[in-house]
Amino acid sequence: MKAVWFNQCGDAAEVLQYGDMEVPEPGPGEVLVRLRTSGVNPSDVKKRAGLQPAGFEDGFVIPHSDGAGVIEAVGMGVPEEKIGARVWVYQAQYQRHWGTAAQYIVLPALRAARLPDQANFEVGACAGIPMMTAHRCVFADGAPKGKTILVTGASGRVGFYAVQWARRAGATVIGTAGSEARCEQARQSGAEHVLNYQQDDLVDAIEEITHGQGVDRIVDVEFGLNIELSSQVLKTGGVVASYSSSKNMNPEIPFYSLMFKNITLELVLVYNMPDSAKMQAEQDIYQALTEDALVHRIAKKFPLAQTAKAHAAIEHGGLDGCVVVEID
Ligand SMILES: NC(=O)c1ccc[n+]([C@@H]2O[C@H](COP(=O)([O-])OP(=O)(O)OC[C@H]3O[C@@H](n4cnc5c(N)ncnc54)[C@H](OP(=O)(O)O)[C@@H]3O)[C@@H](O)[C@H]2O)c1
Repeated sequence: MKAVWFNQCGDAAEVLQYGDMEVPEPGPGEVLVRLRTSGVNPSDVKKRAGLQPAGFEDGFVIPHSDGAGVIEAVGMGVPEEKIGARVWVYQAQYQRHWGTAAQYIVLPALRAARLPDQANFEVGACAGIPMMTAHRCVFADGAPKGKTILVTGASGRVGFYAVQWARRAGATVIGTAGSEARCEQARQSGAEHVLNYQQDDLVDAIEEITHGQGVDRIVDVEFGLNIELSSQVLKTGGVVASYSSSKNMNPEIPFYSLMFKNITLELVLVYNMPDSAKMQAEQDIYQALTEDALVHRIAKKFPLAQTAKAHAAIEHGGLDGCVVVEID
């Protein structure tokens, strides 16, 4: 099979290799998936660059956790009826060597979720990290129906889906973005209110939108930069569900401002969120895709042989949506 791999961390163009590998065989409880797409996310790029543990002490890593394709074979204990099923896969390269940047992957059957016919394989490649992370941030603290939720970075890959999960579940959403063009992206997610975090006075604007009540929850992409704002605009008993703090990795928190409001900090890592939450996300994703109820954005596509360029695109940033590697 054709595959992309790296043996050491470093610059994408230098360490990512493209070539032939043996097709793996499914063991007990596993499935063999013929992949059609591979999703590229910041964590894949950070692992390859050596900024996060890549999950290997020796040998190769085939990068990327997300992807989609068709089950071609099953291991012992997995029903044969699964053969031929369209699936999206997740956590492929979490604490494992074998990611989705390859024509084939073997992984636990649990990590291959049904992809409805209404969704193409590109959309399937966005389900694992962008859709699931957003789902967890929106639902971790109970049903959001009737709540007001602030989604920072509503134009981002995760934020864009967070707005949609929250709206679908009956919440009112205020989104933020960093330029007029990005605000326009955020509006396409369905957010009722969109604020420009570079220009608007967010505290005043949120107070006006919420008639002085504040927001119930925040789904936050830059915890450290936004925690002061969060402490000001949350209601008593509110929640910050944050999945990233990349621009301030060791933030100080306004402890007493948060404590006096009984604020819950919900820090989310999609890879090891509870299995029950993964199952719930799978079900909700299946339902939403079947209804064709979500807006998806594929910002860039690359052939497998050009995976290094896909990594560079993620590193460069500023994309309106997901980056997908297409696999012949
Ligand atoms: N914990 C997890 O499980 C998990 C899962 C997925 C991703 N992540 C991490 O989450 C981060 C974002 O991932 P992504 O794929 O969604 O990236 P992305 O598409 O590049 O989105 C990043 C977003 O952050 C916004 N942003 C930057 N500074 C901001 C600020 N001060 N206030 C509000 N918004 C701000 C950007 O808004 P503008 O472009 O409009 O300025 C953009 O929408 C990455 O660090 C990634 O590693 C973590």
